[in-house]
Amino acid sequence: MQLSNNKILITGGASGIGKGLTERFLQKGNTVIVCGRRVEVLEALQQEFPEVITFNCDLSLETERIRLYEWIATNHPDTNVLINNAGIQQWTQPGMEDFWQKAKVEMATNMEAPLHLIHLFMDHRALNVIINTTSGLSFCPLTKVPVYSATKAFFHSLTLSVRHLMKERGVEVIELIPPAINTDLGGKGLHDEAPPVSALMDAVFQQLESGKNELTFGFSERMAKATPDDLKATFEMMNNR
Ligand SMILES: NC(=O)c1ccc[n+]([C@@H]2O[C@H](COP(=O)([O-])OP(=O)(O)OC[C@H]3O[C@@H](n4cnc5c(N)ncnc54)[C@H](OP(=O)(O)O)[C@@H]3O)[C@@H](O)[C@H]2O)c1
Repeated sequence: MQLSNNKILITGGASGIGKGLTERFLQKGNTVIVCGRRVEVLEALQQEFPEVITFNCDLSLETERIRLYEWIATNHPDTNVLINNAGIQQWTQPGMEDFWQKAKVEMATNMEAPLHLIHLFMDHRALNVIINTTSGLSFCPLTKVPVYSATKAFFHSLTLSVRHLMKERGVEVIELIPPAINTDLGGKGLHDEAPPVSALMDAVFQQLESGKNELTFGFSERMAKATPDDLKATFEMMNNR
């Protein structure tokens, strides 16, 4: 993709990895639109980057996804990049009392939302790039986050199909595959030991500049290239320690 002069919608672009993308794409001369549920986090982003355009919505709800798309179509018809980055991570197990309630929201946020947004954006003529944020766990599940891992495997598979299907239309489909990164994903403190967002962004923009469509870093680089035996060994190592 060309790295400047785009109008980019970044879901979940006000914190963590999304905020890293917002900052770098602004530096490169793009217009950035960010959505998220927490008004105070969107306001803080706008304090830091007054040129950012924000939209408050909850993408786990179908009506809200339609409201976002219609707002974009009316007010920002020149939006040409959709970044499906918003996601949540629930540390839960099937035996827990609130498991199903949590799983439903996690599946709605991590699978239904990007799937529905991609479908809605098929009516959007300006669209020429989709970036999907999956995970190293798309390839090998961490059983502490069983539903999360499964949603990311779904999203990885969907990304491969959409990339193939969009070729004729000329829409480039890029997969951003982060490893564990120090953000508040899943709750504050859970990812404190992981590399910072800035290190991931350095790797991501280097790979974007070289024209790659699978953007990896550290552990996710190994997972994306792993053999079945590597995946088995990694599963044992991650889940039996
Ligand atoms: N950090 C990691 O270790 C890691 C590793 C691999 C993949 N990832 C993926 O990277 C993406 C970004 O995660 P992150 O680590 O940067 O964590 P994060 O800081 O918690 O970012 C998630 C973003 O998604 C937004 N969001 C969540 N639910 C939403 C909803 N229903 N509607 C609208 N926005 C919603 C959040 O904003 P609000 O809460 O304000 O809505 C937040 O800005 C996720 O897809 C995650 O799965 C992260």
